[in-house]
Amino acid sequence: MSYDFESRVDRQGTGSLKWDKYKDREVLPFWVADMEFVSAPEIREALHKRVDHGIFGYTTPFEEAQDEIIAYLKRVHGYEIEADWLVFLPGLVQGLHIACMSVAENSSVMTPTPIYPPFRRSISNTGRKRIEAPMHVVDGEWRLDLEKMEELVEPDTSMFLFCNPANPVGRVFRADEIQAVVDFCERHDLILCSDEIHCDLVLDEVPHICTAVQAPEAADRLITMMAVSKTYNVPGLAFCYVVIPDEGLRGRFKHAFRGLVTEMNCFGYAGTISAYRDGEPWRQALIPVLRRNRDILYTFIREHIPPVKMWSNEATYLAWMDARELPVDDPVAFFESHGVGLSDGRDFGFPGFVRFNFGCTEAMLREGLDRMKKAVESL
Ligand SMILES: Cc1ncc(COP(=O)(O)O)c(C=O)c1O
Repeated sequence: MSYDFESRVDRQGTGSLKWDKYKDREVLPFWVADMEFVSAPEIREALHKRVDHGIFGYTTPFEEAQDEIIAYLKRVHGYEIEADWLVFLPGLVQGLHIACMSVAENSSVMTPTPIYPPFRRSISNTGRKRIEAPMHVVDGEWRLDLEKMEELVEPDTSMFLFCNPANPVGRVFRADEIQAVVDFCERHDLILCSDEIHCDLVLDEVPHICTAVQAPEAADRLITMMAVSKTYNVPGLAFCYVVIPDEGLRGRFKHAFRGLVTEMNCFGYAGTISAYRDGEPWRQALIPVLRRNRDILYTFIREHIPPVKMWSNEATYLAWMDARELPVDDPVAFFESHGVGLSDGRDFGFPGFVRFNFGCTEAMLREGLDRMKKAVESL
């Protein structure tokens, strides 16, 4: 089957977070992380089928969904889990908050930066003390700064929030890097919360290694969070799953959200089952489109907007840019005033940086880049 990644779909009137931000303005949105592509026909068909069933009652985790996730984790990532280890939630953002709520109230939680903003917010929203360990660029790549992490960790630190592949820097961490994080957590007795939502959006020939697979010895301190939402462009289904092998840790995690989150959306189950069962051909078609967009973006920025610095994305459809050399106070406001909506690096802990979502049609990407070029030429 061939899939369409080039037609523009009008999202007005659908409550799109991404587009409604600029409802009455001539601004193309390249910010929040959903894509401009219609989801896989296989998933749409499964959702239609679920609609046609006609009864949308309370839905608890059922065998077909659990089995599909168990099979996917084993087949694709070599991670063998048991059904009991699964916890279902409406989203990873809730998951991050709940993870923070499941450690001692007076403890601190560490996250590397730059990082997807809810990592930072989940720590402060839940009243835990936030320790940010800035990453650094080594040989042209964003790496975790282990020395900095050692320097900043405190006796009361209880958890490390890890994001692999990393949003916003687009790295796929290698075995030695993951192992170093695990060793760090072992040394300081930290819970390790590993957000792997972008694991099936790897653009280069680098394998994604689940933290759980790299370090089975860390099972008793590990929380892994995953979803089909990024890969298959279905975040509106509001559904994710969390894998917690250790019974005690899982109990604390579940206790933290008792009464606040109950049954999941029945369409979330249907979408997840069908993505893992039938979605692979669509994903296989998506990856070269994202790779092409990444390459267009990088070449364009390098050639036409050299003051903006970029690093190659190994994964995700989110590009991280250093705009500090531009002679403007606020790069996001500046590009917005020229019709391009970006994410603000400030929210990721790195003021002066911006994040560009290239999960869009080639036409939209090129239009956005032309606008950025004209904006910079106007300075
Ligand atoms: C690393 C990461 N975690 C979590 C999320 C959001 O997950 P959810 O929509 O399930 O809350 C995103 C969305 O961009 C993300 O990039």
